[in-house]
Amino acid sequence: MSVAESYIGKPTSTDASLVVAGERHELPVRKGSLGPDVIDITTLYAETGHFTYDPSFTSTASCESKITFIDGEKGVLLYRGYPIDQLAERGTFMETCYLLLYGELPTKEQYETFCNLITRHTMVHEQMTRFYTGFRRDAHPMAVMVGVVGALSAFYHDSIDIKDPAQREMASIRMIAKMPTIAAMAYKYSIGQPFIYPRNELDYSSNFLHMCFAVPCEEYKVDPILARAMRRIFILHADHEQNASTSTVRLAGSSGANPFACISAGIACLWGPAHGGANEAALQMLQEIGTVDRIPEYIKRAKDKNDSFRLMGFGHRVYKNYDPRARIMQKTCHEVLEAVGHEDDPILQVAMELERIALNDDYFVEKKLYPNIDFYSGITLKALGFPTDMFTVLFAIARTVGWIAQWKEMIEDPSQRIGRPRQLYTGPTERSYIAIGDR
Ligand code: CMC
Repeated sequence: MSVAESYIGKPTSTDASLVVAGERHELPVRKGSLGPDVIDITTLYAETGHFTYDPSFTSTASCESKITFIDGEKGVLLYRGYPIDQLAERGTFMETCYLLLYGELPTKEQYETFCNLITRHTMVHEQMTRFYTGFRRDAHPMAVMVGVVGALSAFYHDSIDIKDPAQREMASIRMIAKMPTIAAMAYKYSIGQPFIYPRNELDYSSNFLHMCFAVPCEEYKVDPILARAMRRIFILHADHEQNASTSTVRLAGSSGANPFACISAGIACLWGPAHGGANEAALQMLQEIGTVDRIPEYIKRAKDKNDSFRLMGFGHRVYKNYDPRARIMQKTCHEVLEAVGHEDDPILQVAMELERIALNDDYFVEKKLYPNIDFYSGITLKALGFPTDMFTVLFAIARTVGWIAQWKEMIEDPSQRIGRPRQLYTGPTERSYIAIGDR
């Protein structure tokens, strides 16, 4: 280990100091392997009697992690150190899963064992099919996902003891393996078609497309271009460090809740339009714009302070540069539209022209608003044949491995304690109860 490496995660000599009520307090600064240093305030309350206030965590690192790194200024995303474009272009989703879970890319032998393990767990307990029939046909598939994934803990009692590493491992494998089956069943149920069982000879992405689009009465051949697009979409969405749903999974897991319940909580959080639902909104916006000549009108609205309209699929809390996932998504979008014969789709023309205009407009340039992953993913998913309410479900399938890797990292940390944020209380001060007749 080099001297520089030995400092990683540890307090360094370059301490910060904070003056509270005239008294100076030294605070250690911790160095990461990449990214900004963090000021360690864990002793702040004990030493000063003060909390810090950072309601949407814009300046707070909630944990230490070795999984994913984002440099929002430079537009960099690394899974365990590997750039996202290399993984999406050259790797498989199973390799990405292995990498996120265990920290290294698998050898050929490890890869085969892992793929085999996942493939052998894709079926769900047959009794779960009856669980589906309890839902209304018009239920949103995310509502079904939250319910069914949470219910896995009622079916797989042998993998809910989080203190047992073998059970943690089994729960992880089961969720990665079963998530596409559960999602495809939610889709099939919503359109009134029979469930299609998984097929062991197909890879993860092809198997998912098969379970969604095959019907028992005829042969269905998965188009390899569409399967490649699906694989890329899964890789691009697999993890994104401490985003809202991942933080939800970690917080739920910090209480010792079982992994199926924690992932179900993550799915619930992902459902929100500010998180997983943005690609649907971006597609709706492109459809509403409709033709290239209407773009200036929408650009004008996006810049108008008195108009709440925003260019959906533009801007990001962390990326202040082109979202590295958006580049790959744009390329994948072209490939899919060509494969399905929609390369002249007016929506794609609108998207490309909108992107060109916005990237050259002072308002967007100054505010560092670039296309994010959702700008092209909605068009791509539509061309793949998915209805809009399945978009977030696909995101959930992909993100499951990231949620699990982060959950495992937390559980396996010996210093882990229940997460418990504090607050700035601004409600009434203490007052006495008054009987109802006297109020
Ligand atoms: N169109 C027009 N103006 C925008 C946009 C946009 N899409 N995004 C931000 N701005 C402006 C905003 O009005 C503000 O201007 P001002 O400083 O004059 O008040 C400035 O840029 C900063 O915006 P903010 O809302 O303070 O930035 P944020 O970091 O809180 O928001 C965001 C990030 C993603 C919520 C926002 O950019 C947005 O609403 N984008 C559209 C929705 C979208 O595409 N969401 C998907 C994000 S990627 C999902 C993922 O990674 O999981």
